Amino acid sequence: MPGGLLIDLEVRPVQNLDEFTNGVLSIGQYFGMVATEERMQRFSNLIPFERMHAAWSNGAVVGGAGAFDFNLSVPGGDVRTSGVTVVGVTPTHRRRGVMRALMRAQLDAAHEQGEPLAALWASEETIYGRFGYGLAAFCGEITLDHEHTAFAQPFEPEATVRLIEPEEALKRVPPVFDGVRALWPGMFSRNATWWEQREVSDPEDRRDGAGPKRWVVYERDGAIEGYASYRHRMGFEAGVTTAELRIVEALGTTPEALRDLWAYLLAIDWIATVKASLLPPDHPIFLLLAKPRRLRYRMGDGLWVRLVDVGKALSGRTYAADGSIVFEVTDDFCPWNEGRWKLEGGIAERTKDDADLKLPVQTLGAAFLGGISFGALQRAGRLVEVMEGAVARADALFGWDRHPWCPEIF
Ligand SMILES: CC(C)(COP(=O)(O)OP(=O)(O)OC[C@H]1O[C@@H](n2cnc3c(N)ncnc32)[C@H](O)[C@@H]1OP(=O)(O)O)[C@@H](O)C(=O)NCCC(=O)NCCS
Repeated sequence: MPGGLLIDLEVRPVQNLDEFTNGVLSIGQYFGMVATEERMQRFSNLIPFERMHAAWSNGAVVGGAGAFDFNLSVPGGDVRTSGVTVVGVTPTHRRRGVMRALMRAQLDAAHEQGEPLAALWASEETIYGRFGYGLAAFCGEITLDHEHTAFAQPFEPEATVRLIEPEEALKRVPPVFDGVRALWPGMFSRNATWWEQREVSDPEDRRDGAGPKRWVVYERDGAIEGYASYRHRMGFEAGVTTAELRIVEALGTTPEALRDLWAYLLAIDWIATVKASLLPPDHPIFLLLAKPRRLRYRMGDGLWVRLVDVGKALSGRTYAADGSIVFEVTDDFCPWNEGRWKLEGGIAERTKDDADLKLPVQTLGAAFLGGISFGALQRAGRLVEVMEGAVARADALFGWDRHPWCPEIF
């Protein structure tokens, strides 16, 4: 295979299920995916053809990139977002500019459609910075042995935990999730199809050796304040349990709901180890447990955010303080964002005023959800403070009361 850029590359949205399947298989093959017609049909209910780009060379599909159409919860708001997913290039055509062409087409489409943000989970941290994405949230996984699940302070559960069937979960859980989204930046909206296909539907091939998904709700006077889903992976060795409890999701609209749901999950009998992932670094479990060290938290990158339209994106969130700030933004990949932007009264507009901070669009994406401070970004060399005190001013505006939390990889 000769190297160099592909001169005959064509990128466009797919037009039928066959093209859709080949686009998805560009990454699917790395997962050993079997692309049955039924499976692809189901997936196309979540990504319509016009949001699935594919790349062709010499008549064959050699890459694909899709984008869910959802809203991302941002501090005090909810912003339409291009949820980038299934980015892949066939191994025969790697490092010849195929992904770059797909990113170009995808971000141009998001811009044309007026989507202020794009967001993604990266398979590797080194890939997406060059396209303007900034690391906006950290998250991590825990592995907790059952003997270390004691809480630091005694408490009585304030409401009831009730096991429910998946059919009831489908009806009762989505409004609770929406309530949590209203509180927590970083969560994407799930439509009815998503709930059905991605959350409640529970085919064998998604269980990874564990049992079916169990659902519980946390109810106070008939109102549901939280829920959890989890799986058991049973095991015994020398007559002693080695079973795992895998928490898929545990969310609550009140602190009591989150605390009592975790107390329920950690107390389930016959479990040797509890596992959960995608937890933000300020999750209350770190303060609730007597021995947080035993959680063996391993933190990495979570959501990556790209401001597709700086003005619209900055105007789409709420700010924690009054005041104004002028950013001078550089953006190689989406030059329409370049220049000076003044944020004042919650609205960002182009300005001729002098810059307070000079930064690349990646830095603004990193700070956007309020999880990574401008101070931290400055210490990492990711911005230039032009006016003294501007970093502190930006932090007073952008800071939020909690770290962004995206509880699901999309
Ligand atoms: C990652 C992947 C999509 C890259 O596709 P590609 O067509 O080889 O990428 P391109 O040739 O367009 O590369 C564009 C740039 O990204 C860089 N790049 C590509 N893959 C990279 C990687 N895995 N790590 C770091 N840099 C990478 C290239 O070096 C190039 O850099 P440049 O801008 O300095 O020239 C492809 O290798 C792949 O499908 N990998 C397996 C699946 C995967 O990881 N998908 C991403 C899901 S989030």
